[in-house]
Amino acid sequence: MKFQRVFGTLPKTTASAPGRVNLLGEHTDYNDGFVLPTAIPQRTTVQIGLSSDDRHHVYSAEYDELINFSDDDTIPQKFVSYICGCLRLVEKEGYKIPPINLYITSTVPIGAGLSSSAALEIATLRGLRALLNLPLDDVRLAQIGQQVEIRYAGLNCGIMDQMASSLADTNTMLLIDTRSLECRPIPFPTSTEILIIDSGESHQLAEGSGYNQRRAECEESARILGVKALRDIADPQAVEVLPEPLRRRSRHVVTENNRVLEAVKSLPAERFGELMNASHASQRDDYEVSVPAVDTLAAILQSIPGVFGARLTGGGFGGACVALVESGKAGVIASEAIDRYQRAGYSGRVLVPEIKVNS
Ligand code: GLA
Repeated sequence: MKFQRVFGTLPKTTASAPGRVNLLGEHTDYNDGFVLPTAIPQRTTVQIGLSSDDRHHVYSAEYDELINFSDDDTIPQKFVSYICGCLRLVEKEGYKIPPINLYITSTVPIGAGLSSSAALEIATLRGLRALLNLPLDDVRLAQIGQQVEIRYAGLNCGIMDQMASSLADTNTMLLIDTRSLECRPIPFPTSTEILIIDSGESHQLAEGSGYNQRRAECEESARILGVKALRDIADPQAVEVLPEPLRRRSRHVVTENNRVLEAVKSLPAERFGELMNASHASQRDDYEVSVPAVDTLAAILQSIPGVFGARLTGGGFGGACVALVESGKAGVIASEAIDRYQRAGYSGRVLVPEIKVNS
């Protein structure tokens, strides 16, 4: 069903934003640290027009659901909470938004750790910026998007996903200093490409997951160590004084920041891959955000010739693995990985490159 079929009018503007995959720097963003994501080809698109009554109307093509709400309603649930959050926070910036019709389509996989919600937030914010000619730059959109996630979706997240969706492209990685919000494009290691495979274990970060708890543990660690954030510690030895599990949580963050800072020094693919493998082990053993299915998938990928490195990407507790592989080999590596993963009793699917693999 197209915009016009749903709303009976034509849209006034169209905007889109990509999902992201993080190559290195996991759970470092809410510690003021460094991250290294890139955009993925899959995008979320919104079309926006003016509503003919005093309510906002939001339609999701994926869910085939139409939901309406007004400015005074309690926050609607599901995907509409993100839209409602964007509208309310842009209004808080001092801009009046008329009642709108908004139509969402998306190819960003949901629940795979590739930031479908950030893509929805940034696409919506870009659409509002275009519709109302708002003087908000890309970094500001990312900051508003992060606040939407925190206040309207209950995830006390960092700013990586929204920064990546708002500022990254698919040609380079983007080094983001999440304290200063300075960004620098970093070329991929030569003769490599990216492969992303979903573990089939859907991740769910908000409410009750370990994500908010991890963040609290990091803040507690920083407080005990007397620093503003764990980003301010470079020597992993410094965290040895902490009680468990704070010692292991902090060791992950400190070593992960160091891995990012090494990875951006034009490394050969082999070394970059080693850092990815070390990052996975650190997420699994110290940060404890992996699950058996993802560990199995990462181990399979790491053992296939042509794979430089592979790791859990995104918030964890399920989701996808990203691998850095030899150029031109992603297809055959994906087939082998999916096959072996299936023989181990799981069911995976290739997300990037978007290819069909017989399994
Ligand atoms: C989620 C959050 C991000 C970041 C990652 C982990 O994607 O939204 O802010 O913390 O997890 O690196």
